Parts: sequence; C-alpha cells; structure tokens
Amino acid sequence: MYRREYTSDWDFRDSNTKEYTHCYHNYPAMMIPQIARRLICDFAPEGSVSMILDPYMGSGTTLVEAAIKGIDSVGIDVNPLARFIAEVKTTKFNINEVEESFNYILRKIDSFDISAWKYVETDFKHITKHDYWYSKENLIKLKYLSSVIDSMEFAATKSFFNLALAETIRDVSFTRNGEFKRYRIEANKIPTYNPNPFVLIADKIKRNLDGLNNFLKDASEFTVNISDCNSVYEIPHSLLAKESVDMVVTSPPYGDSRTTVAYGQFSRWAGEWFRFPNAKNIDRTLMGGMPKKIDSIDTVALATELEQIKQSDIKRYYEVTTFLDEYSRSIENVAGVIRKGGRVCYVVGNRTVKDVQIPLDYFTAEIFEKHGFKHEITYVRSIPNKRMPSKTSPSNKKGANVSTMTEEYIVIMTKL
Ligand SMILES: C[S@@+](CC[C@H](N)C(=O)[O-])C[C@H]1O[C@@H](n2cnc3c(N)ncnc32)[C@H](O)[C@@H]1O
Repeated sequence: MYRREYTSDWDFRDSNTKEYTHCYHNYPAMMIPQIARRLICDFAPEGSVSMILDPYMGSGTTLVEAAIKGIDSVGIDVNPLARFIAEVKTTKFNINEVEESFNYILRKIDSFDISAWKYVETDFKHITKHDYWYSKENLIKLKYLSSVIDSMEFAATKSFFNLALAETIRDVSFTRNGEFKRYRIEANKIPTYNPNPFVLIADKIKRNLDGLNNFLKDASEFTVNISDCNSVYEIPHSLLAKESVDMVVTSPPYGDSRTTVAYGQFSRWAGEWFRFPNAKNIDRTLMGGMPKKIDSIDTVALATELEQIKQSDIKRYYEVTTFLDEYSRSIENVAGVIRKGGRVCYVVGNRTVKDVQIPLDYFTAEIFEKHGFKHEITYVRSIPNKRMPSKTSPSNKKGANVSTMTEEYIVIMTKL
C-alpha cells in the first residue's frame, strides 16, 4: 500500500531559508534547505553515510547541507549557471582575500568616471538585443565591474564576485521581477527604471560575505564534485562507482521547462554575459526539452491520467510522455549507483496538464520499485515559500488558469 502523509511538519514557514551560502544567488524552484537538512539527518540509511548524490542539483542546496554535515557529495546539472552557483556556494574561500578584494572593488567603484568609458558596441555583441534589455549606462557599468573583477589580485576569489555580478546582471536588465521568463517591463516604466549596478552588487557581496562567514564556521571537512552530465544518459562513473552512493536528496523538474519552470530563460542573462556554453538553448537540453512521438509509457500509476491527456490533446500528450520517458531513464541511472540499503529522497511536484493532475510521486515510486527499491512513505507539504508558478494555463487559453502547484511530495525509498 502506497503511504502518503499530509503534514505541516515539513512547511518550515518561519525558517530562514537563506542561511549560510544559501543566500548567494536566486534560482528557480530552489529546495528549502531545511528539507534537505532534515532528510539527511532523520532519513539517513542504516550504516555510515559518506556520499550523497543530487542528480538534478540546481543551485546546490543539497550539496551545501551535505558540506555542513561533513559528508562528501556529487551534484549533476546540465545547466552551466546551476553548476556555477553550486560551485561557488560550496567553496571555502579565504575570508581575508575575499575582504581585501571587496575593498578593492569598492575603491574602484568610487573612482568610476563614466566619461572615461566609451561605449563599444562590439563588447556586447554576444548579448541578445542588449540595447533592448539594458540601458546604455548600466551596460557600461556592468562591463566596468567585469573588468574590475578580472583585474583583482586574488584570482582565487573571482568566482565569488562574479556570482554576485551574475545576479546583478539580471536585476538591472529590463526583465520583470518575480518572473523567471524573459518578459520586458512595460515601455512606460522604462524611463524611470534605473537600478544602480554598483549599489546592487555591493549589497549582494555584503550579504554573501555574511553567508560565507557562517558557512566557514559550521562546515566540516568535505569534498564536492560537480558534473555536467545529463542524468538521462549517464551518471559520472569517474566520480561514482556502481553502488557507491549512500543517499540521494534531490528535487527533479516536474515537467519540461517550456511548459513548467523556465530554468533556461532565467539562466540566459548570466549565461550570455559569461559566454556559458549553449546559453540560448538550455531549455532544449533539459529533461523533456525536445518532445518526441512516444506513444506509450509503461506505467500503472499514471495510466488513467495519460489516457485522459491523450484524448484531449495529442501534442501535450507527447510532451508529457517524452518527459516521463526521460525521467524513467534517469531514475534507472540513479538507481544503479546506490548501495544496498541506500536511501533515496525525491521532492516532486504534481503538475496539471489539460486539467488532469499528474501524480509524479506515484510514478517516481513505481519506477524506483522496478529497479529494486521499496517505497517507505511520501510526505505531502504545502509550498508557501518556493518560488514557482501556482497557476498555469494548460490549455494555453488566456484566463483559463488552473491551480497546479500548491503541494510538494517528499518521496522516500530504500534500495533492497
Ligand atoms: C528543481 S531544479 C533543482 C533545484 C535545486 N534542488 C535547488 O535547490 O536549487 C531541477 C534542476 O534539474 C536540472 N535538470 C533538468 N534536466 C536535467 C538532466 N537531464 N540532467 C541533469 N540535470 C537536469 C535543471 O537544470 C534544474 O537545475
């Protein structure tokens, strides 16, 4: 019998979700650190726990929590921005070098003289429609910040500052706040919209410096490895031998990014600025990003729902089946690296497509069971503070919104 427990124990409504390095950089659909922390503490498998894997690492919430407990971890993500954030969040920077570099940046900001900076069109050629998304003045200031960071004496600290710059780049663009997609703010608001990149970056660096100090105080000895693998096709066997992982704590996407969470669009600002690979097309590389005509999925858990979607919209059906097919393959890959008795914790969302809710928690448990796992329990929590759409228009009709994501499912399984 599949056990679902509805509980408020996992809500963490009043918790500080920005402790430690969790404050560094925003990312779509971040996991609440307290969830990863409780899973690692209370649901660790029997025996010792020396390796934790997150196969859809995102901004690295699980990796930071593993580091604080002194547990080694491996994180996988196809999105270069995710890997950059996770890398910086789990680096023990030398605090004196960071502080000295920060003072250097502040001095450089003080001595900035815009008249000495000529706008060179070619500097921004790699940024799509740069004059549509940014004011000229802010482009010049961002470019200046980039060159200041590049000229810093302590090269090892550059990534710490470039991460603050990455968030600033998006904040000063004309994209709307509170949206992961690239929507420009209304034209009439643009003349008065003039955020100052210098003020923004200085505030972010101060915030991140506090986070770093707390992280350095509490993090034990650990190693972190970050991989750019696509979990649908492989798990990095150079980092993880067969059956070597004690625990998985992860929150996978709950659908393709085009119709659910826009990871690629969110990441494009920093991606283009820093010339990350594939910056314009990340969404296509993510799970379900390139729909194929997959006619059926071997599932009992979702059979009724899939049939309903198929009857209503064949195109949407193929989008869903492509995602589920790739999700199953990635589960098979993950299952192979977990040791006997190892524990797997997947935090998933059950989205709605064509008014049909897709219970991804059942499906997750079903596929793991096919690969030798036992389902223990699924906790259902409401999601008050995870930034993701709670409404969508599955039929793509204006005003036809239905509620999709108000609950999250923490699926816990053990390898037999
Ligand atoms: C819900 S987010 C993870 C958020 C993360 N728990 C955090 O706290 O920031 C899901 C992640 O899965 C990644 N992803 C999607 N498809 C992937 C694939 N095939 N292989 C590896 N990562 C993938 C996305 O880039 C995204 O960062």
